[in-house]
Amino acid sequence: MLPRAAKHSQAVSPAQAFDSTTLTEAEIRALVARFGSPLLVLDCEQVRRQYHALKAALPGVDLHYALKPLPHAAVVATLRDEGAFFDLATTGEVELVKAQGVAPERCIHTHPIKRDSDIRDALRYGVTTFVADNPDEIKKFVRYRKRAELLLRVSFRSPNAVVDLSKKFGCEPSAVLGLIELARRFGIRVRGLSFHVGSQTSDPAKYVEAIRACTDLMAEALLAGLPALDVLDIGGGFPVPYNDEVMPVDEFCAPIREALARLPKHVRVIAEPGRFICAPAAIAVSSVMGKAKRDGRWWYYLDDGLYGSYSGQLFDHAKYPVVALRQDGERMPSVLAGPTCDSIDVIDENILLPELEVGDLLVGRMMGAYTWASATDFNFFKRAKVVVMNEPPADARRVVRLQRKVAGRKSAA
Ligand SMILES: Cc1ncc(COP(=O)(O)O)c(C=O)c1O
Repeated sequence: MLPRAAKHSQAVSPAQAFDSTTLTEAEIRALVARFGSPLLVLDCEQVRRQYHALKAALPGVDLHYALKPLPHAAVVATLRDEGAFFDLATTGEVELVKAQGVAPERCIHTHPIKRDSDIRDALRYGVTTFVADNPDEIKKFVRYRKRAELLLRVSFRSPNAVVDLSKKFGCEPSAVLGLIELARRFGIRVRGLSFHVGSQTSDPAKYVEAIRACTDLMAEALLAGLPALDVLDIGGGFPVPYNDEVMPVDEFCAPIREALARLPKHVRVIAEPGRFICAPAAIAVSSVMGKAKRDGRWWYYLDDGLYGSYSGQLFDHAKYPVVALRQDGERMPSVLAGPTCDSIDVIDENILLPELEVGDLLVGRMMGAYTWASATDFNFFKRAKVVVMNEPPADARRVVRLQRKVAGRKSAA
């Protein structure tokens, strides 16, 4: 088995999050022998577990899986079968859920800034709920006012979140009533409010603050004679353990549940989790394609790197737990680099590893979210092939198929 990190009493450690994707060494070698390297091994059983863990922690909240962190057909199909809802942001994502037979009524479109073609494509599919956060975006819906309804995205800055999503999007809470009034003048129905407290948020207090503010705004809208708002979308942001532990999800959501309990009963609450559902569901497997000793330290050049599955180190500010399958020998400070000719393509400048040989395998854990999704083919190094395991429920460890088609593109597989 792969080595595991130490367990701690309360918090969720990276090791616990990997249980189902902890394949044996032999299984990982067999996958590489069969499918080549680099790979992203996606475990649908873990997707199910994450979904149900969050569902249990947020009873009564409809979970719309945000496709962006891992827009893969197997994730969509798995969640579709579990009764999940979906959060779409682009036409490509619309195509992906459509290809998996997801009913459009189970989807919302949450990109706050859209092209007219994005709106039309989503409407043609049958999505009717969209998000806006400013007058110009609201005006885009005048011609669709009979077919589309809006959620207004409100900004709650989160300097402590790893990715603060309220800088680029969202209106000030003080602008909400004016925007509802504007939409009403245009004949556009505003159904509710949405926010995103930032991705990989470590503190649930930010959700509580945002839920309370939105509860107040809903009451103020009623007092002002505006139509009742009956949807609150609490976004994504739920954290996962990379190298540091995080609160167990039930504990994390306890104050959120309390805050939601104060909402008027008619308000439907939804959430848009991405990372929490898919990050623990995949490992990245890569192999050493060359080695060199530089300034007394071994550099190992892998066939996956910052332009590939490890792109999240740049775009998502994540640092993944990486281990070598080879465990024998003294562990020395070493450098792990990606395959491209670019000097920025270094995964870790100081990682303890035994001496590795060309062909040795490395495994990056917690690599389902914002990794393969943002990988490129830079320098013509193809992004990792996705292999899917446990696609039918309880199909323990069986690798059922290779990814063949993603968002209309044929994979290298
Ligand atoms: C609108 C929206 N919803 C949901 C998500 C998913 O967030 P997370 O992966 O933090 O759960 C994102 C991430 O960028 C987003 O922009």
